[in-house]
Amino acid sequence: MDIFINKIITLLREKIPLPAETIERLLEAPPDIKMGDYAFPCFSIAKQLGKDPKKIATELSQKLIPDDTVIYINALGPYLNFHISKPLLFRTVLEEITDKGAFYGNSDVGKGKTILIDYSSPNIAKHLAVHHLRSAVIGNAIYNLHKALGYTCIGINHLGDWGTQFGQLIVALKKWGSDYVTASPENSHKQDSTKKEKLTVSKLNELYVRFHKEAKVNNALEDQAREWFKKLEGGDKEAKDTWQSFKEISLIEFERVYKRLGIRFDSYAGESFYNEMLDDTLRRIKDSGLTEISDEALIVNLDKYNMPPCLLRKKDEASLYATRDICAAEYRKREYNFDKMIYVVGSEQRLHFRQFFKVLEEMGYEWVHDCTHVDFGLVKFKQGKMSTREGKVILLEDLLEESCRIAGEIIAEKHPDLENKQEVAESVGIGAIIFSELCTKRVKDVLFDWDVILNFDGETGPYVQYTHARLCSVLRKYGDQVPTDANYDLLKEDDELVIIKQLECFPHTLLRAAYNYEPSILSNHLLDLCSTFNRYYQHHRILTDKKELRKARILLVHSIKQVIRNGLGILGLKSPEKM
Ligand code: ARG
Repeated sequence: MDIFINKIITLLREKIPLPAETIERLLEAPPDIKMGDYAFPCFSIAKQLGKDPKKIATELSQKLIPDDTVIYINALGPYLNFHISKPLLFRTVLEEITDKGAFYGNSDVGKGKTILIDYSSPNIAKHLAVHHLRSAVIGNAIYNLHKALGYTCIGINHLGDWGTQFGQLIVALKKWGSDYVTASPENSHKQDSTKKEKLTVSKLNELYVRFHKEAKVNNALEDQAREWFKKLEGGDKEAKDTWQSFKEISLIEFERVYKRLGIRFDSYAGESFYNEMLDDTLRRIKDSGLTEISDEALIVNLDKYNMPPCLLRKKDEASLYATRDICAAEYRKREYNFDKMIYVVGSEQRLHFRQFFKVLEEMGYEWVHDCTHVDFGLVKFKQGKMSTREGKVILLEDLLEESCRIAGEIIAEKHPDLENKQEVAESVGIGAIIFSELCTKRVKDVLFDWDVILNFDGETGPYVQYTHARLCSVLRKYGDQVPTDANYDLLKEDDELVIIKQLECFPHTLLRAAYNYEPSILSNHLLDLCSTFNRYYQHHRILTDKKELRKARILLVHSIKQVIRNGLGILGLKSPEKM
């Protein structure tokens, strides 16, 4: 909490030559709350003064004078521990949560700064894959975290909507697609009168697979595809219209999934958006003296950085993924003048990002140092239901559907007379999937296991949501307005202190999660808070007969509920009141 931290900073600055920010950065929470509320490690100041850190800690503990905010200061080894006034702590935290409500945890540290987040970014004419889900969920949480900190956030879905494969798809559609009509509205009425089916992403996938199968025995197909892609690049009407329909069909499916996940984007400027700008970008790279021709392709040699070359243009003149990313980065800097830009993309593309960041650096763009590849591990499926059947992709929509179905079953059993079961099942089913992507450090692989992610007692979304519903139920039972005149001094249990400290840390947790691009810091904080509360709930009566104590505890319950709700909202989960 600011008042305590500021006080400690003021105290320390009178005795040691460190800037306030440095002191703030160094302050930690001691491993056990009995040791103190804040700990200041004396290593760096000791180094600066050429003294022994333990000695410094002892000296400072004698020199610093406690007051009614920081009531006691002691040295423990090389650490200086600060004990703050508990009644003041309770009052400050609980009053701030009551005042700020849904905005508790928010700040304006990012005011006036812009962050660009490139996330999900699937390839069109294909189903959304699980890694696009993971990217979408992580990106969305990072977006919400920064929004809470006052940043201007721009969410970009860099659709993979350009490339030679669209020439192949046009050929396939012309050859075998006569049974399909496009999903455009003027065609939809034809559906009933003829046997024709609506063109969907699944159908496009089938056509794509068929193309590759037939191209193995029929060489002419590839040539035709190349021709069609050339036409597309040249702006041919038929080619462009067909490609446009691929895009529309894909977006219908993508947006259906995003809507269900509660994820949105500020821009869908994908790879094709940069077509007209590519020549300028290529010229700038050439003018910087970076390019060379190798095997008729245009490349940037990155030997001296121990990286394979960055491919800019193939011999058939087609531009490449990296070229478009370089071009997109330049455009985004011009258009949005971002302070930070992040790409939430799986670890398997690490080399791609290192390569094109290097090219940007070599082009002299200082701002490349504000760009980060926020990578993440794979989602692996446990054998069994919905495992990757014979290499087949798992359809995201099936995954979401299945999760909501199981959640529905569990809820119907736990709470048969719940009014809006369907809606709650949707929030819990989707919440389970989102949370499972966010509760481990993002670089780690996640093992997707239904029994784990939907366990109401595990480290899961449903567990946090269920705790929230339990808090709501206590408040309903209490029946009255949340008290405004509670006597905080009555909260004397150890767990109450642990809880208040966890509530106190919430704003700082948001900061840490945002700065590390690591939503798991927040999800784990919520899990810890839930487990402390559930332990407390088991051992103590909240609705006790002692009226004043009851009021104080209800205020505490209300505050926990608020913080869980705020945290879940940032992670992208709903908080049902009953479940
Ligand atoms: N479309 C790519 C894929 O599906 C991801 C794009 C990520 N964003 C970017 N700017 N490269 O793998």
